[in-house]
Amino acid sequence: MHKTLIAPLIFAALLSFPLTLAAEDDTRVAIDMPAMMRTHMLANMRDHLLALQEIQSSLAAGEYDAAAEVAEKRLGMGSLGTHGASHMAGFMPQGMQETGTAMHRAASRFAVTAQETAVTRDLPSALGALSRVTVQCVACHASYRLK
Ligand code: HEC
Repeated sequence: MHKTLIAPLIFAALLSFPLTLAAEDDTRVAIDMPAMMRTHMLANMRDHLLALQEIQSSLAAGEYDAAAEVAEKRLGMGSLGTHGASHMAGFMPQGMQETGTAMHRAASRFAVTAQETAVTRDLPSALGALSRVTVQCVACHASYRLK
């Protein structure tokens, strides 16, 4: 094939890829919940993302205790009371609840690792523990969506 034809073809293929994903391959389970809970859950999700950003900037500044505190209070087991997890759980299938619990546990484990990092300065191990949190965000988003 002529070289000048290949680039536009690749470009067209890349363009159609997300469309294909959205139209045909959305196999996520759709969760129905009351409008107020939906609003509450999405606000909570946006705070999860903000918490991750704050954790990353604390790690970058070498402020490991600050990273640990955000992780425990906003994502970890210590966040369960404040974000109404017990009310939400009733609307979630078992697998989704388990992924949520796994995320909270991983965040609390990250908090411990981050506190250790304040002494050891072992940033790679803190980053590894943080990726075990985000892997649970990714897993849940890959399987579930809201209606
Ligand atoms: C137990 C499941 C679960 C976990 C764990 C989870 N999420 Fe979500 N999240 C969802 C669902 C479901 C939605 C809605 C997606 C949709 O309807 O397309 C969502 C939506 C979001 C949104 C979009 C919010 C909006 O206003 O539309 C953000 C941002 C987000 N999540 C961030 C995160 C981050 C960061 C983490 C990990 C620290 C995380 N989530 C962990 C289930 C989860």
